[in-house]
Formats: sequence, C-alpha cells, structure tokens
Amino acid sequence: MSEKTAGAMIRFNNVSKFYDNHTVLKNVSLDIEKGEMIFITGPSGAGKSTLLKLMYLAERPDEGDITVGDFHLASLSNARIPKLRRSVGVVFQDFKLINNQTIYDNVALALRIRRVPEKDIRNVVSEALKLVYLRHKAESYPKSLSGGEQQRVVIARAIAAEPKVILADEPTGNLDPNTAVDIVRLFKDINIQGTTILIATHNRELFRNTGKRVLKLDSGTIIGEEAG
Ligand SMILES: Nc1ncnc2c1ncn2[C@@H]1O[C@H](COP(=O)(O)OP(=O)(O)OP(=O)(O)O)[C@@H](O)[C@H]1O
Ligand SMILES: [Mg+2]
Repeated sequence: MSEKTAGAMIRFNNVSKFYDNHTVLKNVSLDIEKGEMIFITGPSGAGKSTLLKLMYLAERPDEGDITVGDFHLASLSNARIPKLRRSVGVVFQDFKLINNQTIYDNVALALRIRRVPEKDIRNVVSEALKLVYLRHKAESYPKSLSGGEQQRVVIARAIAAEPKVILADEPTGNLDPNTAVDIVRLFKDINIQGTTILIATHNRELFRNTGKRVLKLDSGTIIGEEAG
C-alpha cells in the first residue's frame, strides 16, 4: 500500500498511550480504508477500548499521530471535538438509552441537539428504525425492549446522526449468540451503504466467515492480521 493512501478513513502512525507508567498501546500504526468494515480483537486488557477512545478523542495519545477523515487529531482544539464526534458514531456495550424517553426520542436526540427541523428528523428516525427492524417500537420505552432490541436502538441512534465512521466496542457483549450474529449482519448492511465500521471484540464468532480484515492486538501491540 502506498505511503499516502487517499482512501484512508482512519490512520494511526506510531501511536503510544501510557497510563501512569503503564504502557497500554505501543507504536500502533494502522490504516482503515474509507468504506471498510474491520474488526479488532485481542484478550481482555489488550487495549482495544483505548484504541477506540483515541479515535474520538475520549483520550489523547502520548505519542504519534492519528487522523480520522479530514481531522488531524493532534492539532484539533477542544472546541472542534464536537465536530469530530458528529462524524464518528459510537456503539458501546453499556447501552445508555434514556429510559424515560421513547425509542423515537432516543434516536432523535442527536438531531434535536443539532436543531434539525422536526419534519426532517421524522424521516431520518423512521429510516434508521426501519433499518434495525424496530419501526413498530417507536413509541415504546427502552425498558420494555429486549437486550438485542435495545442494542439495535443504540445502532439506530448512531446511524441517524449519519456518521462517516461507526466505532463499536463489544457491541454484542450482553447478547445471546444468535442475536449477536444478527447485529453483525446489521453492521454489514450499514457498511454496504458506505459507512466505515470498526468493531472491537474478543468474540471470534463475530468475525468468523465475514471475509473482513481482523487486526490482532495483544498487550498494546498489533501482533498480526487475519481474514475473518
Ligand atoms: N483510565 C485508565 N487508567 C488507567 N489504566 C487504564 C485506563 N483505561 C484502561 N487502562 C488500562 O489499559 C489497559 C487496556 O485497557 P482497555 O480497556 O483498552 O482493554 P480492552 O482490550 O478493551 O479490554 P476488554 O476486552 O476487557 O474490554 C488495561 O490494562 C487497563 O487496565
Ligand atoms: Mg474493552
């Protein structure tokens, strides 16, 4: 691959991260192409979540450069972080849905913050809920949904904001194996529409037979790559 790939969506160049003298990531370099769907795997404590946190500036690296789309994170001021986060959707295992708001309102939240007109919100939310097969639950509340359904709401919420990238950290951690496979299928559908998707998981079942790239992280270092 050429040194300057025009199609890189996420690039790490010799990135290291330390927590109080403890090396969590060491000289990590990687390239994720625009439109790619890719997995990061590795044992507990390998640094997967930290890697994702660096991509949306929940943490800053101690060494190295990161670019996400057109954003050079090292020189990105705190004032511009919200702009970065608009192009990066996050899906985490602890769902964080707002329990006293309907599914519709949960999915609409980011758009309302952005002051998108209600009639546009209606279209976007309805499309997002359709994609995750939950249009019929729009007026329900999170607590009345199963874990897998709640996770699909979180995914709908992420895609409603129309991010360029979705970062998913153990997105199927609480789900039964069949539901987990459904969620990965859903990510594939979203990916086919052009969104770059990165999934961190220690569950090998998720990427088995996907044909996607799988980066292997161990003790803060990328130790190899395989095809899922
Ligand atoms: N805020 C923090 N302060 C200190 N150490 C931290 C912090 N966050 C993570 N670590 C340490 O960094 C290492 C990597 O953590 P990380 O959460 O990135 O691993 P992980 O691969 O996501 O693991 P898991 O599969 O259990 O989610 C661990 O040793 C962890 O204890
Ligand atoms: Mg983690």
